[in-house]
Amino acid sequence: MIIILLGAPGSGKGTIAELIQKKHQIPIISSGEILRAEMNKRTEIGKKVSRFLLSGELVPDEIINSLIENKIKQLRYEQSVIIDGYPRNQNQAIALNKVWKSELIVFYLDLPKKTLVDRLLHRGRVDDTEKIIERRFEVYLNETQPLIDYYTRTDVLIKINEISSMEIFKKIETVL
Ligand code: AP5
Repeated sequence: MIIILLGAPGSGKGTIAELIQKKHQIPIISSGEILRAEMNKRTEIGKKVSRFLLSGELVPDEIINSLIENKIKQLRYEQSVIIDGYPRNQNQAIALNKVWKSELIVFYLDLPKKTLVDRLLHRGRVDDTEKIIERRFEVYLNETQPLIDYYTRTDVLIKINEISSMEIFKKIETVL
């Protein structure tokens, strides 16, 4: 089973992924973590993607699709995986379907923007400046939000309106 966590910047995808991992011993693939690791290690890929991460733009699909495909291949003996931050647009969703044909559940974490911006400004990651956060939200609205309709049409999307991580996790547990 593939468990996808979908939500705006700061909605808690990474936090919830860790809670699910701890409870169910399922590996996490986090697209943002993979990209930041490449950037921090100054690999060839890291050099290519840093300007996208530092401006809040999505990195090109071919780069992220290939990184995720490699990670998935490393996990080919696993029954399930949690994916945080991927797919981010319809092309990526189609690419994922080709790589791992498995039952899919998408948890959509829907929180008010003000709560999210406050959280991110307090976290202080390198891309958590007001300007980059604003751009990340625009990109999310334009490119990623259409996935909500895409996954609703295939009846795999579950919307969660809670704000507290424990309440979100409880709802996810009732489904899992
Ligand atoms: P990515 O790392 O995926 O960033 P994001 O989607 O903006 O999400 P965040 O990591 O900021 O937040 P989150 O939802 O995981 O929340 P978290 O648990 O950390 O992507 C970064 C960049 O990489 C993108 O801009 C893009 O350039 C590139 N990229 C990534 N994936 C890509 C893809 N597929 N295609 C192309 N480009 C891609 O929580 C946030 C904060 O809130 C934390 O401080 C946390 O402690 C706190 N918090 C969480 N839950 C709660 C709570 N319930 N109450 C209070 N505080 C909370």
